[in-house]
Amino acid sequence: MNTVVLTVKASDVLAEKTRCEIDQWAVKYPPEQRQSAVLPALLIAQEHNNGWLSRELMDAVADHLGMSSVSVYEVATFYSMYELEPVGKYKIEICTNISCALSGCEKIVKHLEKRLGVGLGETSADGKFTLKEAECLGACASAPMFQMGKRYYENLTPEKVDEILDQLD
Ligand code: FES
Repeated sequence: MNTVVLTVKASDVLAEKTRCEIDQWAVKYPPEQRQSAVLPALLIAQEHNNGWLSRELMDAVADHLGMSSVSVYEVATFYSMYELEPVGKYKIEICTNISCALSGCEKIVKHLEKRLGVGLGETSADGKFTLKEAECLGACASAPMFQMGKRYYENLTPEKVDEILDQLD
């Protein structure tokens, strides 16, 4: 059986700005270990692609770091911070782990689902919100909490959630 190998050239897919940002991480490692920068590289590529990673983008990151595509897929599919499908403009990752569960995250999840009209793991029809369940995000002392973008929102109540959402455009 013939095997077709598809190759993606990083410079054809990743903008120069994206490649430069990735290189700022890659230079922290010896040249023969550029692949050590794969985690931030994928985050950068994702950030420049409306919050998600296409297969072509992952292949381009692999090419740019000199590693196999499969190794990049392994990383991207292992960590929950990477999205392999398009997401909403605002991605809300609500922690449902033990401290948040004991502090009433269930009520917050229900409130978010009702207000946004989506269930966990779904994106609203207008493409504005993605609601996602997260494991402990390390803010247990301020549970319940969610992350939206790079920011944490803590000590949540349904009223506080409404205030946060009301401020979004
Ligand atoms: S359990 Fe929710 S932040 Fe730790």
